[in-house]
Amino acid sequence: MRTVYLNGEYMPEDEAKVSVFDRGFLMADGVYEVTSVLDGKLIDFDGHAVRLQRSLDELEMRHPSSKEDLLEVHRELVRLNEITDGMIYLQITRGNPGDRDFAYPPQDTAPTVVLFTQAKPGMADSPLTKTGMKVISIPDQRWGRRDIKTVQLLYPSMGKMMAKAAGADDAWMVEDDHITEGTSNNAYIVKGNTIVTRQLGHDILHGITRAAVLRFAREAQMSVEERPFTVAEAQAADEAFITSASMFVMPVVEMDGAAIGSGAPGPVAARLREIYLDESRKTAI
Ligand code: PDD
Repeated sequence: MRTVYLNGEYMPEDEAKVSVFDRGFLMADGVYEVTSVLDGKLIDFDGHAVRLQRSLDELEMRHPSSKEDLLEVHRELVRLNEITDGMIYLQITRGNPGDRDFAYPPQDTAPTVVLFTQAKPGMADSPLTKTGMKVISIPDQRWGRRDIKTVQLLYPSMGKMMAKAAGADDAWMVEDDHITEGTSNNAYIVKGNTIVTRQLGHDILHGITRAAVLRFAREAQMSVEERPFTVAEAQAADEAFITSASMFVMPVVEMDGAAIGSGAPGPVAARLREIYLDESRKTAI
């Protein structure tokens, strides 16, 4: 049985209980982060901690603990659950005001803080890297502040189910004829020598893996264009891929049934994946 963290305490997973009045439960009033663990060490912890603070600030939520304290909790959970490869999930909600009310509770209401581990042995050697992913396009029907990492994941869940029903691995969401991002990842295409991915704004999550991968791409003298692209452009691209904390860099080989490039994983995605994993392992803490 896993040991999880709830509001300052480590406990067996079946003892961790949250109130029925918790605003995370009633209103999806909460934010989260997913941080990968490789070889027992945290990947990009700093980036996730900074984004968490930004999500909390954007929602005027209290910061329940310092970055250093959060790091300590992450490390302790890795240790207690003997995680070699896997993920740490963290969620902070606006807590339990004792009743249901649309208005935010008083600022001194204690937030609910939950962290748990998910073991994923061999997660850096996923067989998907060899075959690549198939994606479908679906309309982006999420709210307008996707840059805040909230726990409102119903539409992304629906998107994954639509992809599954279509025999695909994931869905890329489309707004005003342009792709925003994947259901739980950022989306990229490669045309000639240029990597294209949507620019940051309120319409996508500012991926921590995205920031690192774009930095490595520029350091390796690859050209990067941050702009929106269409489904037709993706279908006509030489390659496509996604990035996220749990998938790192993963090739995409099909969009709405049309093969992308040769229909096999491409060299740019493979190279970026290798650089990302090498560099992240070096700086893991
Ligand atoms: N998802 N876009 C969306 C909508 C996401 O949910 C995620 C992450 C990303 C990639 O961000 P990052 O590189 O910081 O992981 C982009 C996480 C992994 C999840 O929900 O499980």
